[in-house]
Amino acid sequence: MAEQYLADYYARRANEYDAIYRKPERQNDIRLLAAHLTELLASRSVLEIACGTGFWTQFFAPGSTFVTATDYNDDVLRIAKQRLSCLANVCVKQADAFALDGLGLDFDCGYAGFWWSHLEKAKIRPFLREFHSALRPGSRVIFTDNLYVEGSSTVVSRTDNDGNTFQFRKLADGRQYEILKNFPTESEFREAVGESGVDIHFKKLAYFWCGWYETSRG
Ligand SMILES: C[S@@+](CC[C@H](N)C(=O)[O-])C[C@H]1O[C@@H](n2cnc3c(N)ncnc32)[C@H](O)[C@@H]1O
Repeated sequence: MAEQYLADYYARRANEYDAIYRKPERQNDIRLLAAHLTELLASRSVLEIACGTGFWTQFFAPGSTFVTATDYNDDVLRIAKQRLSCLANVCVKQADAFALDGLGLDFDCGYAGFWWSHLEKAKIRPFLREFHSALRPGSRVIFTDNLYVEGSSTVVSRTDNDGNTFQFRKLADGRQYEILKNFPTESEFREAVGESGVDIHFKKLAYFWCGWYETSRG
């Protein structure tokens, strides 16, 4: 199953994941995005999904009211727990982004970093319904992800019939995976959110994009 394949890849990549954030050409964008997230998530009770090693959580969490940072993989959560242990308002726990019921907390903000790109185009809307259902009506929802940048991004290996794009990725142990990695345009982002969000924004940096909106008050 595609979802399990993706989860397995990230489980095996856990200890080498943060190397991506050491690329020299991305340092300015990392600073800008961290500052932008801090502003967007300030004083919010945040449900973060697919938090990975907690790289972005460490920047915005000090300004948030409370953060529940979740991921499917225990291997990345172990690193996130260590990294975020100094923050009393952060709780790190295991959760599948496709089955968010049962978290039982009162969130007014949802955040997912570098996750949208791993969703098949046909599965974005069902995923958004699931994500929104874990949040209070009128919540802020924020996604950040990669822009495709020639010479910096891993090349696209193929495009399927639905327009999903893939990359070959090699881990330190030599294993190779073909990973779904989409690079949505602003109009694709707006169309996917559609009626489920209002006040939709989309900001492009040099290497990253950030899209955010409020869920309807229903
Ligand atoms: C590209 S990484 C992003 C990590 C982190 N948000 C960041 O920006 O550094 C994708 C993350 O999705 C997690 N993941 C994979 N399948 C998942 C699932 N079904 N539910 C929740 N997280 C999942 C992986 O373990 C990995 O940490």
